[in-house]
Amino acid sequence: MFKLKFLWQFLGLFSPCFVSVLPTPDVTSICGPETNQTLAQRIQSSQWKASDWLLDQQTEDWGWDFLSTGSAILSLQLANETWKNDLESMEAQLTIKQLNIEVLREISHRHSFKEMSVGKLGYYAMALHASCHNASNFHGHNIMKHLHHRVDDFDTNQTKNYFPYSLALLALCSSGSEVPHSAIATLEEVQGDDGCFPFGVGLFHH
Ligand SMILES: *[C@@H]1O[C@H](CO)[C@@H](O)[C@H](O)[C@H]1NC(C)=O
Ligand SMILES: *[C@@H]1O[C@H](CO)[C@@H](O)[C@H](O)[C@H]1NC(C)=O
Ligand SMILES: *[C@@H]1O[C@H](CO)[C@@H](O)[C@H](O)[C@H]1NC(C)=O
Ligand SMILES: *[C@@H]1O[C@H](CO)[C@@H](O)[C@H](O)[C@H]1NC(C)=O
Repeated sequence: MFKLKFLWQFLGLFSPCFVSVLPTPDVTSICGPETNQTLAQRIQSSQWKASDWLLDQQTEDWGWDFLSTGSAILSLQLANETWKNDLESMEAQLTIKQLNIEVLREISHRHSFKEMSVGKLGYYAMALHASCHNASNFHGHNIMKHLHHRVDDFDTNQTKNYFPYSLALLALCSSGSEVPHSAIATLEEVQGDDGCFPFGVGLFHH
């Protein structure tokens, strides 16, 4: 129950296309009902500091190195829902344009797009969705369908790291695509008795 609640709270941050005014933040959505004002303020100020740092890392072409423009935009949007809606801001527009360029460039290299980690693909799908693109029809490319295939083909025998896989599921879920029951079952199978998931770094690339 808690897990679901948390997921929905997280997904609540993904309805940016309809939100133009940021309401007073509900602090209980940060770390559960125990969150007090002091903690909430500290989290908020960390969020702002982190956003500033992220903006500081932006490259001259308005993207981020290491193909991380998707995840950077997603973070900025999660930290500040009005970020993208600031249509006056040339910076936000150029950044989103760079996201388009980066994703199209990756798609044009068919091989590298096929090989792209399923987590990175999830980040791109979420960033596109968060910036009001239709990832099922992104300049004629159906990124969501591709993501679905990648989730279906995910070989659970070859990994101990479910972080990228979870990101892919989150991307399906947050953009309104159907999440296969089998995928939820896969995650449930690897969940430990303490509620945690195993984390193995970089055994295989997914
Ligand atoms: C608020 O939460 C923080 C972190 O959990 C804790 O250190 C602090 O004592 C709490 N303050 C109050 C007034 O409860
Ligand atoms: C959130 O983004 C908007 C639009 O770019 C900006 O005006 C505002 O200052 C940002 N808020 C914070 C707390 O950074
Ligand atoms: C997104 O694109 C797909 C495929 O073209 C279309 O079926 C769907 O209605 C579009 N969704 C929205 C919200 O426009
Ligand atoms: C993964 O391992 C299980 C149990 O060892 C086996 O039954 C299954 O066929 C394997 N799946 C793949 C895709 O190799």
